[in-house]
Amino acid sequence: MISKAFTARAHTNIALIKYWGKKDQQLIIPMNNSLSLTLDHFYTDTTVYFDSSLKHDVFYLNDEEQDASKISRFMDLVRAQAELKTFAHIESVNHVPTTAGLASSASAYAALALAASKAAGMQLARQDLSRLARRGSGSASRSVYGGFVEWKRGNDDLSSFAVPIEENTDWNICMIAVVIDKNRKKISSRVGMQRVVETSPFYPAWIKSSEHDLATIKKAIKERNLKKVGAIAEENAMKMHALNMSASPHFSYFEPATIEVLHLVELLRSEGICCYYTLDAGPNVKILCSAEDSEQILKRLAVKFDKKQLLVAHPGPGVELISKK
Ligand code: ADP
Ligand code: DP6
Ligand code: CO
Repeated sequence: MISKAFTARAHTNIALIKYWGKKDQQLIIPMNNSLSLTLDHFYTDTTVYFDSSLKHDVFYLNDEEQDASKISRFMDLVRAQAELKTFAHIESVNHVPTTAGLASSASAYAALALAASKAAGMQLARQDLSRLARRGSGSASRSVYGGFVEWKRGNDDLSSFAVPIEENTDWNICMIAVVIDKNRKKISSRVGMQRVVETSPFYPAWIKSSEHDLATIKKAIKERNLKKVGAIAEENAMKMHALNMSASPHFSYFEPATIEVLHLVELLRSEGICCYYTLDAGPNVKILCSAEDSEQILKRLAVKFDKKQLLVAHPGPGVELISKK
C-alpha cells in the first residue's frame, strides 16, 4: 500500500536574534528566545509518501540517495504521532546550499514536518507543526511562518514553538547573502552550540543580553526603524560569534573574506548607507538593508565578489503544500 504523496515548500529564515544553545538536546528546547526573518529566495521542496513494501525509510536529497539515519529518527516521531508503522520515501530538493550556514536545516525540517504529517494522515495546527519541525532542527520551528517570527523557548515539548510577529510584512527590506563558501561547514550548528553551552565562561551573559536584544528589536521592528533593527541584529550576531571564540576548544566560522565583507559594510555605513550584517554558523554574510539601497550595495560588493556569490532575498512566506511538477 502506498499513501498519497504530499509536497511541501518551506523557506529558510535568518535569525536577527540568534538561537545558540539548548537546554534539552533531545527535545530541542533552546536556552533563549530567538527572532528571525523568513526569506523568499532560499527554500526546500520535500515530497513524502509512506510505502508498506519498504523495509526502512529512503531519503534522496538533490537526486542523490542519503544515509537516512537522522531523518529516520524524525520520521519515528511522525509515525508515533500518527500511530503508523510504515516506512517512507522522502525526496527533497534544496534551493539553498546545504549545511553551509544558510539555514538549510530550517527550510528542510519545516518542509518535511508538513509533507510527512500530511502523508501520515495528520492535519496539524500550525503551532503543532512548529513543535514538530523543532524536533528536526530548532531553527525549523520558525520557518513554519513567513516574515518576522519569534521562537518562544518554553520549557518543555508543549510550550516551545514559534509564533508569527508580522507574517505578511509590508516592510520593504532586503537581505543580501554574500556566499563566500558553499561547502559543508566544519562544525555543525548542533555541535558548535553545545560546545559553547558547556565551555564558554560568557554563556550566562549571552542569555541575559539576548533577552534584552529581543525586547528592543521587537519594538524597533514595530517602529520600522531599520537603523535600530540592524544595529541590534549585528551586535547580537557578533556576541554569538564571540561565544565560539571563547569556547574550549575555541572555534570560528569566519574566513578572511568574511572579515572583508564586514569591513565593507562598516565602510558603507560610514558613507551614510544604512546597512548591517549578520552571520550564522558559517562564513557567509547576510546584509540587511532597505530595498532602495540594495543596488548600490551590490555594486560595491561586485568589485570583490562574483555576481553568482551575491544573492538578494526579501521577506518570504511560511510553509505550504505545493503540487509537484
Ligand atoms: P545549515 O546551516 O545549512 O542549517 P546545519 O548544520 O544546521 O546547517 O544543518 C544541516 C543539517 O540539515 C544536516 O544534518 C543536513 O543533512 C540536514 N538537511 C539539510 N537539507 C536537508 C533536506 N532538504 N532534508 C533533510 N535534511 C536536510
Ligand atoms: C546560528 O537550528 O541549525 O543559525 O537545532 O541543532 O538543528 P539544531 O541547530 P540549527 O541552529 C541554528 C543556529 C543559527 C542561529 C539561528 O538560526 O537562530
Ligand atoms: Co541549521
